[in-house]
Amino acid sequence: MNLKGKVALVSGGHRGIGEATVRRLAAEGAHVGLGDIAVEAGEKLAAELTAKGQSVTFLKLDVTKSADWDAAVKSLTDAHGRLDILVNNAGVYQRKPMHEISEDEWDLIMDVNGKGVFLGCKAVLSAMRASGGGSIVNISSTAGIRASLSSHYGASKGAVRLMSKSVAVTYAKDGIRCNSVHPGPVETIMGYEAVPEALRAERFAGIPLGRFAQPEEIASAIVFLASDESSFITGTELIVDGGATAA
Ligand SMILES: NC(=O)c1ccc[n+]([C@@H]2O[C@H](COP(=O)([O-])OP(=O)(O)OC[C@H]3O[C@@H](n4cnc5c(N)ncnc54)[C@H](O)[C@@H]3O)[C@@H](O)[C@H]2O)c1
Repeated sequence: MNLKGKVALVSGGHRGIGEATVRRLAAEGAHVGLGDIAVEAGEKLAAELTAKGQSVTFLKLDVTKSADWDAAVKSLTDAHGRLDILVNNAGVYQRKPMHEISEDEWDLIMDVNGKGVFLGCKAVLSAMRASGGGSIVNISSTAGIRASLSSHYGASKGAVRLMSKSVAVTYAKDGIRCNSVHPGPVETIMGYEAVPEALRAERFAGIPLGRFAQPEEIASAIVFLASDESSFITGTELIVDGGATAA
């Protein structure tokens, strides 16, 4: 996939699926804005990739703050004159049944996973219009498709799924595509390292391919949807879960 000349913004880009996506977009030739609240780690990754001759800039971005989004978009359009790709990847997870979820916990999950995606999509629309179109890829989850224990996480990811279809249909006339990606369990801090051993085993059992995904396998799906290789695909949901939801 040749992304030379494309300008991309990835939220939550310092580790996990976001990091794999930043690495892949940059390797394919895109200018990448790596947005994250983790300043030191984000700057370190941007410096590593820049030293390899790739074009990656760290941008301090809390996805729940519209001012941060506006500043990130302005920084990229000032530097490169356009914006072609947004990957709304930043997310937070908590495993709890509804009766244990506090109001503050509900608000945090919905703010980062739901409002964060809304603010991100909204912030890039005019820059993408001015660029003649663009591609937005929103990271949902299989928890946005079928029931899971954590009602707040599932509700936030279900919101992302339908928000993506709304953006796709509303802004198709501007050449803006929007799709959602639905990973099953992925070997990241969120999906693996922070998960108790017994739960990992339970999740393994439900995956026909018999393993968790690597972050790079999710990044492949994201970069396909971000690129012109998927030019007639919009408003769809791409499940990347080793067959779990099909079983
Ligand atoms: N790992 C999985 O198993 C899995 C499965 C399905 C969906 N997902 C989704 O994929 C996305 C990435 O997950 P991951 O496993 O790489 O997670 P991770 O916890 O490894 O990384 C999350 C990233 O988001 C950033 N972040 C958190 N809050 C932020 C905020 N307010 N503003 C900006 N950045 C913020 C973190 O600093 C980090 O870089 C998330 O949206 C997650 O819900 C993950």
